[in-house]
Amino acid sequence: METTHYYDIVHDSYSRCAIRKKFFDDFYDTFMSSSPQIAYMFRKSDMEKQKKLLDNGVTMMIMFAGGNAIGKIALDHIAKIHRQLNVTEEYYNYWLESLLQTLKKHDPQYSFKLERAWKEVMGVGIDYLISNSKMPSSMTVKGRI
Ligand code: HEM
Repeated sequence: METTHYYDIVHDSYSRCAIRKKFFDDFYDTFMSSSPQIAYMFRKSDMEKQKKLLDNGVTMMIMFAGGNAIGKIALDHIAKIHRQLNVTEEYYNYWLESLLQTLKKHDPQYSFKLERAWKEVMGVGIDYLISNSKMPSSMTVKGRI
């Protein structure tokens, strides 16, 4: 019940923020300056393209938390890309913190309750991405022996 309510207020908050490109500029400025390793991972990326992909990615995270099947397909794809790039658990803390900081700056209705809602809703997708961040042992050399 609480999660359904959280889902709606997160969705509305994202609609208020994602209309401005500056939201994504600010997110990546914060995220990349949070760790030299993160900046290094994006060193060859086309950041304008990445900002659009992230916009879609956050939408998919929200849909996934709402139990949407398209959201799951999208997260499986993101998990696969991140697995190849070796994006591990600790980086997701930086990601979430950067997102919350950017939301605080851009959403005039930001509040403690809204922050809790964002944490809860993003947490569903983040847990899923983390649990899919390692190759199943059946696919590793060790698993096949
Ligand atoms: C839940 C949080 C995150 C979401 C929703 C997300 C979403 C995405 C999406 C949609 C893509 C593009 C996939 C494609 O090319 O089709 C991507 C690529 C990427 N992500 Fe994430 N990401 C998240 C967290 C992270 C974290 C924590 C890192 C760690 C540094 C990271 C690093 C990267 C990198 C390096 C790429 C590839 C960029 C390139 O192609 O040049 N992401 N991510």
